[in-house]
Amino acid sequence: LDNGLARTPPMGFNNWNAVRCDVNQAFMRKIADFLHTRKIDGRTLQQRGYNYVNIDDCWALPQRAQDGNLVVDRAKFPDGIDGMANYVHAQGLKLGIYADSGSRTCDKKGFPGSFGFEKIDALQWARWKVDLMKYDNCNQPADDNYERTVARYTAMGEALLAAERETGQKILYSLCQKGDRGISPFPWSPQIGNIWRTTTDIRPQWPRIKMIIGKNIPLHKWAKPGAFNDPDMLEIGNGELTQTEEQTQMSMWSIMAAPLLIGTDLTKASEEDLKILANDDAIAVNQDPLGKQGEQVSNKGGLRVLSKPLANGDTAIALYNETDSAATISTNAREAGMLSIARYEVKDLWSKKVTYSSGTISAKVPAHGTAFFRVKQVG
Ligand code: GLA
Repeated sequence: LDNGLARTPPMGFNNWNAVRCDVNQAFMRKIADFLHTRKIDGRTLQQRGYNYVNIDDCWALPQRAQDGNLVVDRAKFPDGIDGMANYVHAQGLKLGIYADSGSRTCDKKGFPGSFGFEKIDALQWARWKVDLMKYDNCNQPADDNYERTVARYTAMGEALLAAERETGQKILYSLCQKGDRGISPFPWSPQIGNIWRTTTDIRPQWPRIKMIIGKNIPLHKWAKPGAFNDPDMLEIGNGELTQTEEQTQMSMWSIMAAPLLIGTDLTKASEEDLKILANDDAIAVNQDPLGKQGEQVSNKGGLRVLSKPLANGDTAIALYNETDSAATISTNAREAGMLSIARYEVKDLWSKKVTYSSGTISAKVPAHGTAFFRVKQVG
């Protein structure tokens, strides 16, 4: 969507994977403070680009007000969503919120959905100065189908743009339709939204991460500035992932130009996890202004090579081993979309080691691991 937002993939935090329905103002403030003040190797996560603080499901009361408006649960957010927006804006951060395109939200408690209330909800969020809205797809009308799904999501998109015209408040539109029940997110999502979920929910378990990467890779053609595939939030620091698997998630989300939305309680994350999230070289690949999603250039039985052209002429290359045993993965300049007769500087974006090559890029990659490089032509 060409609304001036998400010219590069959005970065920030979303509370769902960390605390689910137990979201509240104190927690969200603590996260905002962390992004704003906690330094990792000399700079904060906010200075590195993580600037959205997104509230997921469960912020509202179970019933709308008499006038039809959604009502914030003041037991959870004593200062309201507008108060939360003021708090994060004072830190130079942005606020995100969650809603549903059906009759009730996805959590089993089922808070009010926005179907039929698109205009009034969009206007209220804009007045609260909300900067992003994630629009989920639970409890759809009984007669739902492809056309009606597109219509529901379009109605909200138009309501957000109308609210912007009325208030000046721009709201990044994050679709969470997920391809539910075989209804494709394409071609409509990139036209009406800034980001759109491409898969079912992520979990901090390797098989789920591997499945999601496999599904998101072929979707590269839809990504461009203003519109990015969303394979769901980062699980770095959550659950059972090894450090190798966490580096794979950061590498692959970066080369796939995916939103970098942290899904862990940062105040409990280890220094190691924070350093993975704070990898400036990976972030630079993700945030590259060309806004291209890396393309797979080869896949030999789960040994995959992805290549992403960058604005300054460099190329990012990921050698991703989705198999359960270590293997050598190789590619070359021509296969990865570069000149075949040239000399290259190859920077390993995890070890930071720089080597030189006349075209071959190769690494021994552990099971579930990713070797991640930035390649520059130097002769
Ligand atoms: C769905 C979404 C999740 C989260 C929950 C909230 O499952 O895909 O990302 O928003 O709903 O209930």
